[in-house]
Amino acid sequence: MKEIVPSPPPLIHNQFESVRELFAKNVVPSYGRFDLVLSHGEGSYLFDVAGKRYLDLGAGIAVCCLGHAHPAITGALVEQSRKLIHVSNLYFTEPQGRLAAELVKRIGPGKCFFANSGAEANEGLFKLARKFGHDEGRFEILTATNSFHGRTLAGIAATGQDKVKKGFEPMTPGFRHIPFNDLAAARAALSPATVAIMIEGVQGEGGITPATPEYLLGLRALCDEKKILLLMDGVQDGHYRTGKFQSFQRILENGGEGRRAADPNIQGRQHAVPPGFLPDGLSMAKSLGGGFPIGAFWVRAPFADLLGPGTHATTFGGTPLACAVALKVLEVIQQERLDENARKLGEWLKTELERLATKYPQVVRRARGLGLILGLELVEKEKIPGLAASDKTAALQFVNRLHQLGVMTIPAGTQIVRLPPPLNLKLQEAGEGIARIEEVVKSLA
Ligand SMILES: Cc1ncc(COP(=O)(O)O)c(C=O)c1O
Repeated sequence: MKEIVPSPPPLIHNQFESVRELFAKNVVPSYGRFDLVLSHGEGSYLFDVAGKRYLDLGAGIAVCCLGHAHPAITGALVEQSRKLIHVSNLYFTEPQGRLAAELVKRIGPGKCFFANSGAEANEGLFKLARKFGHDEGRFEILTATNSFHGRTLAGIAATGQDKVKKGFEPMTPGFRHIPFNDLAAARAALSPATVAIMIEGVQGEGGITPATPEYLLGLRALCDEKKILLLMDGVQDGHYRTGKFQSFQRILENGGEGRRAADPNIQGRQHAVPPGFLPDGLSMAKSLGGGFPIGAFWVRAPFADLLGPGTHATTFGGTPLACAVALKVLEVIQQERLDENARKLGEWLKTELERLATKYPQVVRRARGLGLILGLELVEKEKIPGLAASDKTAALQFVNRLHQLGVMTIPAGTQIVRLPPPLNLKLQEAGEGIARIEEVVKSLA
């Protein structure tokens, strides 16, 4: 495929070994890292310290929604840091108020709290739920199997995957898991202590699985009936990644049309979607700052003042700097209609991934997701003809092969290759990515 950005800068000093050594000696080895030392980025491309260029279809795990080194983000950082970086939440600052207003405008009547990460945003929602049920002795939060809600102690208790809990028992009490997209199971799991249900609109780490409109609507009705809070974790699938600000807005649009985009097997069913569907709480992070750390939660109006003065806080939450960047990210997404790009390019990419599934069924099972939160589901490792007998999962081996061809993607689970690229990815770049992915698939067939 033709080069679509200028050649990388001249060879940079190759610090690969020295950086690896610094990590080996000084950095807690809690991450399984790929053998890449990255130096800088530009748009949808990253460069390693040897000058090799990679098309970044992972965007720092759904974070760098405007790609790398976007001048608007750099400009906002420079401009705001000249004025004010941090003052603490003992005082009012304009950027935090304005960002809250922009988020409320995009979600619905309510208020926002600012934090620094997705896990911390979810922690805030867990506390909100506990406060809501406290006087009645209700505290239990139901979350879904295969969900992911962060790595804090409450986050791993909430996460419906054993691998994040192992070695850290006993778990924080008050969390139980229910099968995803199973309304009857949710109803059956309720106990007198249940105070909230938390789900992702599209399960990300769990393998790119969208909720059905029936599930969202059914959970809303169930929560209303039982006076339970419906909490949504929009950390990974939010911020226009699905083509709407939040994934539930996309899934429920036009009577559930969004879900048909996610799964073509669902045809022709229309749902009476109340125009005012809202969760009671929603967490955000990742793309919110386009790479600058910021998390937030929104809480629906009736519950917006539950966390009164002194009940919840964080030193760095909603600094003028973080909020100025997040405001700029929203502005660029709006000006450049990146919601439309996520929708259209997502559809194009998904069709291409589906084509690969049809052409190489011995390697690819199906394409998953909607908008620009996509996954390529591989068949079981043992059944893929060209996969080396290795203790590495099929997804990991696939991602490694793509690195060799200069494309970055992210494994999810054992068999899914995740693609949450920048929202401003170009068609040519998407084409380049698909060509490389097809090369790897073909080599395995
Ligand atoms: C759905 C979801 N919730 C929460 C988190 C945790 O966010 P963070 O890593 O910023 O703490 C993640 C991170 O991948 C996520 O995907």
